[in-house]
Amino acid sequence: MFLVQYSNMNTTPLNIDKIRKDFPVLHQEVNGYPLVYMDNAASAQKPQLVIDTISHYYSYEHSNIHRGVHHLSAEATVKYEAARKTIQEHINASFDHEVIFTKGTTDGINLIANGFRGILSSGDEVIISGLEHHSNIVPWQMLCEYTGATLRVIPINDIGEIILEEYESLVSERTKLVALNHVSNTLGTINPVKELIELAHKKGAPVLLDGAQALPHMKVDVQDLDCEFYAFSGHKLYGPTGIGVLYGKEEWLNKLPPYQGGGDMIKSVSFEKTTYNELPFKFEAGTPHIAGALGLKAALDYCNQPEIGFESIGQYEGELLDYAMKQFESEGLSGDMEFYGTSKNKASVISFLLKGVHPYDTGTILDKLGIAVRTGHHCTEPIMDRYEIPGTVRASFSFYNTFEEVDRLIEGLKRVKKMFG
Ligand code: ALA
Repeated sequence: MFLVQYSNMNTTPLNIDKIRKDFPVLHQEVNGYPLVYMDNAASAQKPQLVIDTISHYYSYEHSNIHRGVHHLSAEATVKYEAARKTIQEHINASFDHEVIFTKGTTDGINLIANGFRGILSSGDEVIISGLEHHSNIVPWQMLCEYTGATLRVIPINDIGEIILEEYESLVSERTKLVALNHVSNTLGTINPVKELIELAHKKGAPVLLDGAQALPHMKVDVQDLDCEFYAFSGHKLYGPTGIGVLYGKEEWLNKLPPYQGGGDMIKSVSFEKTTYNELPFKFEAGTPHIAGALGLKAALDYCNQPEIGFESIGQYEGELLDYAMKQFESEGLSGDMEFYGTSKNKASVISFLLKGVHPYDTGTILDKLGIAVRTGHHCTEPIMDRYEIPGTVRASFSFYNTFEEVDRLIEGLKRVKKMFG
C-alpha cells in the first residue's frame, strides 16, 4: 500500500509532470504497461528540443563546416562553434579550444591514451581504480603494453569506495597519469575527485576524469577540479549518441600529438611534411558529428533553463534514491536483496540482486511489466569479480522518473520474488 503524497515529496522547484511531457519516448506502453525507464546510466532519453534541433538542422541548415564560403557552410560553422562555446561555459573551461568534440567518453579516453604513447616508458606507472568502466581500463592496458609502463589499480572497499590510504601509497614520482571515474556507472559512488587530484598533483601526475556518469547529475567545473583532462558523452546527458567531449588543459593538448590524421586537422600538407592545425581542430580530423554537437548544445540549454538546472536535478534524483531505499525496507524487500555500492556519497544508481534470482531473470520479468533496467556486469567485470558475483540488476534514475515509478519497480520486484521464492 502506498499512501504517500508524492507531490509533497519533491522538495525541488522541478515540475516533473511538465518535464515528462518534454520527453516523447516516455509516453508509450511496453508489454501493455506504461513504460518505466530506469536505464538512464546506459543512455538517457531526449527532450523534444534536442529532437527538433537535429531535425531542423538536417531539414534546413546542413552543410559541411570550416570549409565553404557559401551561406549554409558559414551558418553551420557558426552553430557548431556556438555549441563548443556552450560546453565551455557549462564546464567552465578557460578557453573554447580546450573543448574537443569526440564520439563519446571512450573516444576521448583513447585519444589521451594514444597521446601518451610518446610520453611513457618502462618504469613509469598509470594509476586507475577498481571502480572503472572497461573504457577506462582497456586503453591504459593497451598503452602500458605498448610502452612497457605498469598499470596500478587502487582497490575499493566493501561499500564501493576507493580506499584513499591505498591510493596514497600507490601514487609516486613514477606515476605519469591517474585516470579515474568521477561517478561509478555500476555502483553510483561519487569519488572525492578534488582530493584525489590534489594528491596526484603533489607527485606531479596529471589526472584524467571519466565524467560520463557525473555530468547528467551535477554541475562540473573543470577549473575548480583542476583536472588535466575530463571526458564525457552526449547521450547520457540527454543529447545524441555519437557525440562526446574531451576537455583538456591547453598546455597538455598542445603537448600531445594528434590522434587521427585527415582533413581539418592540418595547416598544410605536402608529401614531404604536414603541419598540424591549432587547437581544437588538431584533434578533430574529418567531418565531425555536426548535428550531434548542436543536439548536445540543445540538451544543455534544456537542462540549464532557470526552472530546471543541475542543482535541482541532482537533488530530486537524490530524493528518488532515498525514497527507493526506504520503500525497499518498509515494503519488506530489503531482506531479500543484496545491494552493491552503498557509499553515502552516491548518484541515483541502485545495483542489487534479489537473493537466489539471476539478474537476467529479474530484468526479464521487470521488462514484461514495462520496467527497463540494465542487468549484467555493466562493462565493469572487475567490480563483479571484487564482489564475486556474475552481475547485478541496475536501476538508474533520471529527473523525469517519479516516485510512482519507484513504486512500480517495487511491485515488480515483489512479483519476481513471488515467482522465484
Ligand atoms: N556505460 C554504460 C552503462 O553503464 C553503457 O550502462
